[in-house]
Amino acid sequence: MSEKRLAIVTGGARGIGRAIVLALARQGRRVVAIDIDEAKLSELKEVAQKQGLENNDILTEKLDITDSQAFTETIERLADEHGGVGILVNNAGITRDNLVFAISDEDFDRVIEINLKAAFVATRGAARSMMRNRWGRIINIASVAGVMGNAGQANYAASKAGLIGMAKTVARELAKRNVTANCIAPGFIITEMTDVLPDKVKEYAKMAIPMSRFGQVEDVANAVAFLASDEAGYITGQVVGVDGGMAM
Ligand SMILES: NC(=O)c1ccc[n+]([C@@H]2O[C@H](COP(=O)([O-])OP(=O)(O)OC[C@H]3O[C@@H](n4cnc5c(N)ncnc54)[C@H](O)[C@@H]3O)[C@@H](O)[C@H]2O)c1
Repeated sequence: MSEKRLAIVTGGARGIGRAIVLALARQGRRVVAIDIDEAKLSELKEVAQKQGLENNDILTEKLDITDSQAFTETIERLADEHGGVGILVNNAGITRDNLVFAISDEDFDRVIEINLKAAFVATRGAARSMMRNRWGRIINIASVAGVMGNAGQANYAASKAGLIGMAKTVARELAKRNVTANCIAPGFIITEMTDVLPDKVKEYAKMAIPMSRFGQVEDVANAVAFLASDEAGYITGQVVGVDGGMAM
């Protein structure tokens, strides 16, 4: 089993983030799920217990990750309490879709603040202990939209392309310290985020997927668990598509 290093997963209460938390716990990690949604965090604990995952290996923190100071303090505290942060998964994300001429400043800023700026704050906070411990895995959940662009998502695609550029830069800066930084670019994954889309949009999306089906949260979580493993130690600065062939 892999060493019990601390993993932090933002947006870990539901959807893809929850599946990542459970996959990393199954890998033998101690995982902290950070989320703004307290009810979903409690639900995660119940699900983990039902799956037979030891309760004290999944910790939860209710936090709005756009509060940079509180977020930085939380990461520093967790690093102090657990001998450093081993794995950071920047997963929390939102959409505020519209055609580019209709996106308000507020909707542009909000998407960048949660999807990109908070990931920077977390990376800065976690990188210190990763460098000190000479072991680290930073995994950003980007999107095919950040690779290919997507009509109606200029703000979202910009944030996701930003995550890719940031991961490649961090990969270069921290490579000598045995810290890797990679992105996962999911395609269309069935979650509450995509559930709300109109059927017409879903049908159109399916036509763009060579595998003709949507992905499951576990498809993304499995890729994260691999990139977080000791076995993935020579992989850095990469964007791994989990998209049924959509962005090739
Ligand atoms: N679902 C897809 O098809 C898909 C495709 C590509 C990329 N992604 C990306 O995967 C990630 C997870 O997506 P999902 O579908 O599971 O979304 P989701 O909406 O189901 O979950 C996102 C989680 O982030 C949390 N969150 C949002 N704002 C927060 C804040 N300010 N502070 C703390 N937590 C906050 C939410 O409470 C929620 O639990 C996102 O970054 C998303 O952009 C999803």
